[in-house]
Amino acid sequence: MKSSILVVDDDPSILDLVEARLKKREHAVTTESTVDAALECLRRQDFDLVITDLQIGTDSGLAISEWVSTNRPGTPVIVITAFGSMETAVGAIRAGADDFVTKPVDLELLDHIVERAIQRRRLTAEVERLRATVARAGMPAGIIGKSSAMKKLADLIDRIGDSDASVLITGQSGTGKELVARALHDRSTRKDGAFVPVNCAALPENLLESELFGHVKGAFTDARTAKDGLFRRAGGGTLFLDEIAETAPEMQVKLLRALQERKVRPVGGTEEIAFDTRIVAATNRDIESDVEEGRFREDLYYRINVVRLRVPPLRARGNDVLLLAQHFIDRIAARSGKNVRGIAAPAAQMLVNYDWPGNVRELENTIERGMALARFEEITADDLPEKIRDHQSTHVVVAGANPDELLPLEEVEQRYIMRVLAAVDGNKTEAARILDVDRRTLYRKLERYERYERQESND
Ligand SMILES: Nc1ncnc2c1ncn2[C@@H]1O[C@H](COP(=O)(O)OP(=O)(O)OP(=O)(O)O)[C@@H](O)[C@H]1O
Ligand SMILES: [Mg+2]
Repeated sequence: MKSSILVVDDDPSILDLVEARLKKREHAVTTESTVDAALECLRRQDFDLVITDLQIGTDSGLAISEWVSTNRPGTPVIVITAFGSMETAVGAIRAGADDFVTKPVDLELLDHIVERAIQRRRLTAEVERLRATVARAGMPAGIIGKSSAMKKLADLIDRIGDSDASVLITGQSGTGKELVARALHDRSTRKDGAFVPVNCAALPENLLESELFGHVKGAFTDARTAKDGLFRRAGGGTLFLDEIAETAPEMQVKLLRALQERKVRPVGGTEEIAFDTRIVAATNRDIESDVEEGRFREDLYYRINVVRLRVPPLRARGNDVLLLAQHFIDRIAARSGKNVRGIAAPAAQMLVNYDWPGNVRELENTIERGMALARFEEITADDLPEKIRDHQSTHVVVAGANPDELLPLEEVEQRYIMRVLAAVDGNKTEAARILDVDRRTLYRKLERYERYERQESND
């Protein structure tokens, strides 16, 4: 593979010799004969390799290797030294050069040293690329979180990216369902296609129908031209049907037919037209209850719920609250120029203790308000809304009906465990992970609580 190489020497005969040899090996060569010109050139352009003489006029070539090792770490430098000056060669290596050749230049040796340096450069680049991939593998871009609940979600997004299966995203309002839908699209094989979101609750039924399926010319008074509709506009990409549970029964029938046939019939048209679109739907409702109670068609439910992504409520994400808060602070500070850098410890504790019924959206609003009020570099308790400040006094983590009640330790433990379990929707594996006990220990404790309860109800 062709590499770009900068060669620096004040001796034109050496420059010509080295340049000719490297060009024969198909490399792109730039030559410079002073240190200043070389540095100028390095600032403008990235090279795969730099070869420099150690004595350039009255200047030292070390200036170049030092500049490269601070400003372009990863770019190898080979120095050319006068024959016999082993000491200067060693000094050059200490100063950050990768290798050296002696004058007169042995061209075969030069080839060898150049190849080795370029190889090493490629390896470094590859390692860096891998490291970046690993860092990204943690969380899809834009999604902040380190909690095990969010890592599990990220893992699932990763695994279903290559599939075309329909996905249903559920979670309370403000948990980030739309963000998850976008991450899913970005991670999918369809990422170069369009991501087309449509809010099914925002449009009256007849409008939604022509939005989704398109219409033919003259289908209704305003339809002066034909229109494709979002199913087809999202062709090759993803259609995000937000608030799917809000659709009216007749619309549900039409959606079902479209998903079953993989075809849409534009309003006023007679022909059905095929689409190639991945369907991702979302709702903040308890859609299973809607199905049970006949508000949402069961057959449509099965069509969209092929893969399920559950976005956990913010209160089940532990310290993610603080990560997200810091993320919003940085973003708002950058936008508004307001000099707020973080959150004071007592305020941070309040954010962690609060239960966030409005989830991430509520946190974002809280931080925005807190930044507006903040008088110092940190958001303090005073800058938080009363409900969050006061939450703490009534919300002893293990409170029963009476917050002033003093409890035996074992009772405290039981109540805390039950609270954690509730926060993770009864998922014992997750609860054990949060409590940092092994699952068997948790099971044992839960069994004991059940025994107590049975005894009590028998008494
Ligand atoms: N993990 C996260 N990291 C960064 N930002 C997030 C995260 N989760 C949510 N947000 C932000 O919080 C806000 C609410 O998220 P989003 O609109 O996706 O919620 P939603 O689940 O669709 O809510 P609703 O059901 O009310 O429509 C958005 O501004 C989103 O960017
Ligand atoms: Mg939404």
